[in-house]
Formats: sequence, C-alpha cells, structure tokens
Amino acid sequence: MRALSATIKTAAEIEKMRVAGRLAADVLQMIGPYVQKGVTTNELNQRCHDYIVNEQQAIPAPLNYGHPPFPKSICTSVNHVICHGIPSDKSLKDGDIVNIDVTVIKDGYHGDTSKMFVVGKPSILAERLIRVTQESLYLAIKMVKPGVRLGDIGHVIQQYAEQHSYTIVREYCGHGIGANFHEEPQVVHYGKQGTGERLEAGMCFTIEPMINAGQRHSKVLPDKWTVVTKDRSLSAQWEHTLLVTPTGVEVLTLRDDENLERIINH
Ligand code: MF3
Ligand code: CO
Ligand code: CO
Repeated sequence: MRALSATIKTAAEIEKMRVAGRLAADVLQMIGPYVQKGVTTNELNQRCHDYIVNEQQAIPAPLNYGHPPFPKSICTSVNHVICHGIPSDKSLKDGDIVNIDVTVIKDGYHGDTSKMFVVGKPSILAERLIRVTQESLYLAIKMVKPGVRLGDIGHVIQQYAEQHSYTIVREYCGHGIGANFHEEPQVVHYGKQGTGERLEAGMCFTIEPMINAGQRHSKVLPDKWTVVTKDRSLSAQWEHTLLVTPTGVEVLTLRDDENLERIINH
C-alpha cells in the first residue's frame, strides 16, 4: 500500500514533458544576458512573458496562478527572498543575487526550472551559497532511479547543506508535475534515508532546494506571495524538472551552461 502517489506518465505524455522542459530551460538561457545592474525585475518579467507567449507559443504558468492570483509571469527572488518573489519596478544593483523561476505550459504540460543569477560582483559568501545549493541539487539528481526513496533524496540535500553550515527551508518543496503545475508527491529537501515513497519509471517531479545562509525560518509578506528569510539572511534556490527512467533519470530542463548529463544511467 502507498500514500498519495505520483502518476506514471505515458510515452506520449513524456514527449510533451520533454518539450515543455526544453522551453522552460530556453527561457532561462534567453534572459541571462539581461540580468544586469539597473534592470528592473518587471523588465525581466516582460521579456520572459513576451518570449514565452510570442516565440514559444506557450503559457507562463505563474500568471494568475493560485489565491490571490500571482500577478506576473515569472518569479524573481532577490537576496533574502527565498521564493515566489513578485517582479517589480525596483532595479537590480551590484552584488544582488536573483533566482528566476520559469514555468511554461506547452500542449497542456508543464516545465518548471529556476536558476541563480548574480549582478556584477557577488560577495564570497553569496557565491559559495549559490554553488553549494546547485551542488546539492546535482547530488540529489544523480541519485534518482527506480526504487530510490524520497527520503533518500531529502537526506542527501540536507546533509550536504548542513555540512556547509547552511539551513534548508522546510515550508516549500519540490513536487510532481505534468498536466498540473503541482502534483503528488511532495519532494521535501530534508529527511531520513529509507523513508518515503519509492520512485518508479515514468514519474516526473521537480527538485528545488531552497538553502539559507542563516536560519531556516521563513515568513510570507503581506502581498501573500513573497517568501523571505525571517532573519533576512541570503537564500539561494535551483530547480529542475526530472523524469525517472528505467535506468536512472533524464533532466528535462537541462541548459547548455550546465556541467551535468541530460541522461544519467546507473
Ligand atoms: N515555480 C514555483 C515552483 O517551483 C511555483 C511558483 S507559483 C507562483 O513550484 F504562482 F508563484 F508562480
Ligand atoms: Co517547482
Ligand atoms: Co519553479
């Protein structure tokens, strides 16, 4: 018997997930050169929106998502913002770190991915936080194959972050994904080995660790979306959408700038 579980995608659904994943990754590649000192996050939002709608003929999933409806097409989370930052008229300044989280819907299926960008020269601390967070995601991705349990994945991320004296945000997690933005299961970024649901070939889900330089606690601002660290410490996040294959994992949202294989066979 098992708890609420991920759906197993059909071959046709998997092909649509590949397309959606590639489009989401393309948006992050497109926007990179524009993430510079002086640009507003609204300008980044507008560029991504136009690209998704006009070039990709796809739908930006965040726009009007949830309650209250998210007002923009991407999330931009700057410095101590953990996630779900709302693009605004505030401009980026030297040393800012910003997560851009893109989710597109193409042909009814979702691709969800995020990346950290740095504006000008980041502090040593910010650079290390960003690197360790990406490494924790990569360690977790490299474990994915049928039979591995969700607790094993959470455990490796938590261990790695805590080894570096960072903390894991617990209130937000990765998720199954497909025809819906957020599906079962919840993929938490902490946990115990040998616990939780077992992965099966054909599952699609995200891993998206949020790691803080200070304490793990978060709070939501009065806009009901923006999530910040309670102690205002820096936070970093990276996200990929994954497919569990019979022999390992396929990274559906891989970009050209990454030092990671798209298909990992064990
Ligand atoms: N993209 C986020 C995730 O990784 C969810 C954003 S919800 C939004 O799950 F409404 F803020 F866009
Ligand atoms: Co996600
Ligand atoms: Co996302």
